[in-house]
Amino acid sequence: MTSRFSEVSTGPPIEVFALNKAFLDDTNPNKVNLGVGAYRTDDCKPWVLPVVRKTEQSMANNEALNHEYLPVLGLDSFSTAATRMLLGKDSKAIAEGRAFGIQTLSGTGSLRMAAEFLGRILKYKTFYYSVPTWENHHLIFVNAGFTEPKTYRYWKAETRGLDLDGMLEDLRNAPENSVIILHSCAHNPTGVDPTPDQWKQIADVVQEKKLFPLFDCAYQGFASGDLEKDAFAIRYFVERGFELVGCQSFAKNFGLYNERAGNLTVVVNETKVVAPSKSQLTLLVRGMYSNPPNHGASVVSTVLNTPELYEEWKGCIKTMADRIISMRQGLRERLEKLGTPGTWEHITNQIGMFSYTGLNQKHVETLVNEYHIYLLKSGRINMCGLTSKNIDYVANAIFETVSKVGLDSSL
Ligand SMILES: Cc1ncc(COP(=O)(O)O)c(C=O)c1O
Repeated sequence: MTSRFSEVSTGPPIEVFALNKAFLDDTNPNKVNLGVGAYRTDDCKPWVLPVVRKTEQSMANNEALNHEYLPVLGLDSFSTAATRMLLGKDSKAIAEGRAFGIQTLSGTGSLRMAAEFLGRILKYKTFYYSVPTWENHHLIFVNAGFTEPKTYRYWKAETRGLDLDGMLEDLRNAPENSVIILHSCAHNPTGVDPTPDQWKQIADVVQEKKLFPLFDCAYQGFASGDLEKDAFAIRYFVERGFELVGCQSFAKNFGLYNERAGNLTVVVNETKVVAPSKSQLTLLVRGMYSNPPNHGASVVSTVLNTPELYEEWKGCIKTMADRIISMRQGLRERLEKLGTPGTWEHITNQIGMFSYTGLNQKHVETLVNEYHIYLLKSGRINMCGLTSKNIDYVANAIFETVSKVGLDSSL
């Protein structure tokens, strides 16, 4: 008997997971994983934030908690606090009842719900993402029914920085109502963010061409260590009067990766559209997963709504951001001291967990095969894979590789 499934072809592997498997299978004691998408301590271990542990312990002892279903749009105390965290406690849009949040399945679920709503309800068809971007943006929007995927220029290899002119030109050519996916801070994978003045120029084009801004907010607080500073871009757009959505993840800044705690913040310009929009979102969620999980959202809600825990959490974010910043400085210093060909300021100019090193495919192959240092083909590294114990080894391997292979970025 032949299977009904015999025509199913194997899909392409997901690079980041394949890389992690290759790392785990490697028996070399010097191996280093710079490919992971999560925070690691200086001992290369995942970190349960002490404030999260404490909150979970008190939840475990709270006999009043149960496992009843949450409402379709999730825990209200969570989404209200998450929306306030993103837009600011003095947000006019919140005060005027023009902003609301719904709990989602982490950042990915928030993006998917945004895409479902914008595609099915507002009938938008075209979305734009940066080159490069987090590789899941394309799949999420296409799977949600968007038929016109388009890209805008972002990374300029020569300067290892932002291609602002290219980006603005591509946005100027975008059709009205295109959804523009913007990373609100700590752009993944490049670590390159626009300056406030560049955000102003981007906002001018989005306004002039009547585009729809969608902010992917996966790293608030994780970039600079300061929640307010990292929310600059989206708050600026809200102040200018844009209708927009923000897709928040609490995976990184709370270390709650597998709890899938996320929020979709929606900002509109008239209060009367809030109730119908929420009712359509309710139907979309109902038809996809009925209602979200409680645990992670409950932890986040407790922390954001309890002043002492909130202060403690801000300290945890700072610890993570500072460790990343110090690894950036340490790597750049070592590369420069060794006399590594090329320039390395971009390592400290970039922000957040990821750095687009500028290493080419040949460099990457050499680092993986000869030095057991695992990184994505694009040359993206996760700064958290560096520790005080392996940073000399990694810097030296990059020095030897670049010296041997040369700098030709066309390889
Ligand atoms: C840019 C960006 N957006 C969204 C996400 C979503 O992550 P999650 O679904 O785990 O919250 C990630 C995670 O790596 C990301 O880097």
